[in-house]
Amino acid sequence: MVSPTTRLLIASLLAVTAAACEAGKAAGPDNFMGDARRGTELVKQYHCGSCHDIPGIAGADGNVGPPLQRIGTRTYIAGYIQNSPDNMADWIEDPQRALPGNAMPRMGIPQKDARDIAAFLYTLK
Ligand code: HEC
Repeated sequence: MVSPTTRLLIASLLAVTAAACEAGKAAGPDNFMGDARRGTELVKQYHCGSCHDIPGIAGADGNVGPPLQRIGTRTYIAGYIQNSPDNMADWIEDPQRALPGNAMPRMGIPQKDARDIAAFLYTLK
């Protein structure tokens, strides 16, 4: 027989563990829930390389925007926005919403694709 106190203890331990897992997912790029491998394919599909030099993507040697070498560890996106997985996904989904008037066009990228692309960009360290 498990006492009510023990049950309460177990329940609160489980709650703390669950909260810690959630925090871990949200916090670090390493736990970011995008699919980097799918993101690699999407970067080719959306032709990001026509404007950007992107390591590991064949033919991606554009020079309209900045090279994306080590973008995963850069402090700011486009010099203004704190670089975080969420902000990066928002940027890709709609750079004109993120920073109105900047030179990167809105490409109509769905949120899921944007998150996967962000996961790929975070592999560039
Ligand atoms: C038509 C050209 C063009 C295309 C296509 C394009 N970008 Fe950009 N991108 C830009 C420009 C220009 C900037 C610089 C914006 C600024 O700093 O104000 C930029 C900035 C960025 C940045 C921030 C870079 C930094 O150094 O802070 C990232 C990340 C980025 N683009 C990713 C992508 C991805 C991923 C794709 C494909 C889904 C893509 N871009 C497609 C032109 C483009």
